[in-house]
Amino acid sequence: MNILKFHSDEDFVQTGANLIASLLQSNPKAVLGLATGSSPVGVYARLVEMYNKGLVSFAKASSYNLDEYVGLPVDHPQSYRSFMNGHLFNHVDIDPARTHVPNGNAADLAAECLAYDQMLENNGPVDLQILGIGSNGHIGFNEPDASLSSGTHVVDLLDETREANARFFEKLDDVPRQAVTMGIGGILKAKQIVLLVRGQEKAEAVRNAVEGPITTQCPASLLQSHPNVVVLLDEGAGQWLK
Ligand code: F6R
Repeated sequence: MNILKFHSDEDFVQTGANLIASLLQSNPKAVLGLATGSSPVGVYARLVEMYNKGLVSFAKASSYNLDEYVGLPVDHPQSYRSFMNGHLFNHVDIDPARTHVPNGNAADLAAECLAYDQMLENNGPVDLQILGIGSNGHIGFNEPDASLSSGTHVVDLLDETREANARFFEKLDDVPRQAVTMGIGGILKAKQIVLLVRGQEKAEAVRNAVEGPITTQCPASLLQSHPNVVVLLDEGAGQWLK
């Protein structure tokens, strides 16, 4: 793992954005694996700025998001489709037809999960996967558990995850109880993984992920088995790193 700690926010977001932009410059048809949440927001904003300056184009790229809430209307402001449209897709030249977010409103969610994996199988592998990490060590919505699923699946969100995400909703009760998420096996198929971590509340989780034992109780620790992971930490998240 290549672990980088940044003292300035500016360097953190520019490094994250550069990793994506340089991939698109060398491979305009790159397949991007994308995450939502607060961690990648600055990186997406910087990519929009770079696009506006003519420094990057998404015209031939495609994207696959990690996850989506179950049962939230797709145009709900907190759906992950809305998040991606609002933070990135609507502001760059990516073809909307080549952006993919799991459908959390599919009548048959099991079939939706299989179809999502099939699409990744046909069009992948993902060249660069962006990840954030939950304070409990989740990646995507793969929550700590006795075992982890490999493929895309429906997951019951833990109370701690719903509480963490309640900041985006009016009240805790509005936070969906389930999500569709790519599984750990699917995530690990990416050629390169970029884990973005900000804030001291994530310090313990990311330290466990990169230094602790590989365990399903810290799903992000499975990243240790991947040959090409870059971890970007801000000062708070990397406070344990000399
Ligand atoms: C989001 C996702 C989640 C988040 C994680 C961290 O698509 O897959 O695993 O990356 O919950 O969220 P933030 O960045 O909001 O702290």
